[in-house]
Amino acid sequence: MSGPLVLGIESSCDETGVGIVRGRELLANEVASSVELHVRFGGVVPEVASRAHLEAMVPTLQRALDTAGIEPAELDAVAVTAGPGLMGALAVGVAAAKACAYAWDKPLYGLNHLAGHVAVDLLDHGELPTPFLALLVSGGHTSLLLVNDIAGDIVEIGTTIDDAAGEAYDKVARVLGLSYPGGPVIDKAATGDPRAIAFPRGLTARKDQAKHRHNFSFSGLKTAVARWVETAEAEQTPYELGDVAASFQEAVCDVLVTKALDACTTYGVDHLLVGGGVAANSRLRSLLAERAPAAGVTVRIPRPGLCTDNGAMIAALGAAVVTAGQPPSSPDFGATSSLPVSRVRVG
Ligand code: KG4
Ligand code: ZN
Repeated sequence: MSGPLVLGIESSCDETGVGIVRGRELLANEVASSVELHVRFGGVVPEVASRAHLEAMVPTLQRALDTAGIEPAELDAVAVTAGPGLMGALAVGVAAAKACAYAWDKPLYGLNHLAGHVAVDLLDHGELPTPFLALLVSGGHTSLLLVNDIAGDIVEIGTTIDDAAGEAYDKVARVLGLSYPGGPVIDKAATGDPRAIAFPRGLTARKDQAKHRHNFSFSGLKTAVARWVETAEAEQTPYELGDVAASFQEAVCDVLVTKALDACTTYGVDHLLVGGGVAANSRLRSLLAERAPAAGVTVRIPRPGLCTDNGAMIAALGAAVVTAGQPPSSPDFGATSSLPVSRVRVG
């Protein structure tokens, strides 16, 4: 397999990731997570994350080069997450990428983290016919994207009006006394009856179809779970954690799958790609497998290890951008914490 040899750096949240790809071939994907440092706070502490990136960056870079068995001189380009994400955390990656590009005399591409979550699937499943729809579900974002060209033409057709899906998992985990990050622990704890409790499905009522057909809302669901648990505890009614976790998870996944398949119908596309940390969720995967065939939609989801934040996703997007013949970013670009998904590459 051939294609540009690209090193990608990711540092937007709590994972320091360095990936190396040759076109669509994955050569290295090294991730150093600072998640244990945040557990006792129940969420990512930006300053703690930035310091951890600073410590992990050089060793992670070295490990990626060793694993791929390449010398920096062989690289065609360096790519880095320019946003969105935590400002201080992003700044560490951007500074590291600039230092590498300058020292190795390579073109540098500042790229969009969210587009990276979509592009990473190229490594697992190859090219996807465009346009396709992407459901992006992470700790900070929940969006439906119409992807005309992964290297430069992405339109957001819907997003969350309050909490992201992953954020809801993390907050509900806290309510249930489970650890951070909540997604994997609730996924594991959801062994009970998903129909035990009818939790609300945000923005799915008929009245929401006009304005919010493709938008999401998870804050009402989070509050409903908190109230339900509070009431059960106040009344000293014993309950099964497995039922609450499964019912919450069913509400999240039902909404995600219903809205994603509905958007495919609206936009007349028959391929759906799912990306971001929540795409690792077992129920989301099984529910899509159950319902997508009836809607005539083919679903693609990267392997779970590529769904959560990593450097390979930025390297994969970098390779697509280089292949599309786009120019590098200007040497003085900075990190942009709220970079919109429509800006795949910063100028
Ligand atoms: O994409 P990601 O690694 O970082 C962001 O860009 O936010 O996503 C992290 C989010 C967290 O909220 C975490 O709880 C959630 O993804 N997550 C999951 C699972 N694994 C990670 N949510 C549900 N089920 C999972 N198995
Ligand atoms: Zn992410």
